Amino acid sequence: MSLELRALRADDAGGARAAHAELAAEDFAFLPFFDAEEAWDAYLARITRLSRGEDLPPGIVPWTDLYGVVDGVVVGRVSVRHRLTESLERVGGHIGYGVRPAYRRRGYATALLGAGPAVAREHGIDPALVMCDDNNTGSATVIERCGGMLENVADVADGRPKRRYWVPTR
Ligand SMILES: CC(C)(COP(=O)(O)OP(=O)(O)OC[C@H]1O[C@@H](n2cnc3c(N)ncnc32)[C@H](O)[C@@H]1OP(=O)(O)O)[C@@H](O)C(=O)NCCC(=O)NCCS
Repeated sequence: MSLELRALRADDAGGARAAHAELAAEDFAFLPFFDAEEAWDAYLARITRLSRGEDLPPGIVPWTDLYGVVDGVVVGRVSVRHRLTESLERVGGHIGYGVRPAYRRRGYATALLGAGPAVAREHGIDPALVMCDDNNTGSATVIERCGGMLENVADVADGRPKRRYWVPTR
């Protein structure tokens, strides 16, 4: 598997925008704070500032994104939030990830989530909270393959019970 993990770049616009559209159809926000009207370079500059904690909206914490790239094509991403909020404790957790439909079942999500703990550890997180919908069999398998220990399945306001796992980061 030749999966490269890195930050988004100027030449990723096409693949990343396509990934965003594909995952939006599954109710998953691939590109954070994405605005389709905005020029790509401006988006990259804005998201870099926000992720570092500059000019963040209330309730949003700094985070690190790593994008999975195969042969120059953006195929997935993992996000590590640098701390939990009350909202992230209920939905989202420390680490989230998604893979484009055409690139699934190749181990990319396992590799993406597998890269998350080292980033989380840099921010003093151990263990990391990782969550998925109770009926998301694929995601639950990925989390368990990455060492996730199931704490509980919690009912939340959106009516989709969440499996709450803790993944050690060291
Ligand atoms: C869930 C998701 C991340 C899995 O991505 P992926 O790259 O296909 O995952 P992997 O290839 O690493 O899968 C690892 C294992 O999980 C299991 N798995 C993955 N998708 C599955 C599915 N749809 N049904 C059943 N098992 C599945 C398989 O056992 C798989 O291993 P195998 O292919 O050797 O059998 C992807 O389907 C996705 O992005 N979904 C939409 C967004 C999402 O749900 N993100 C997670 C939110 S917490």
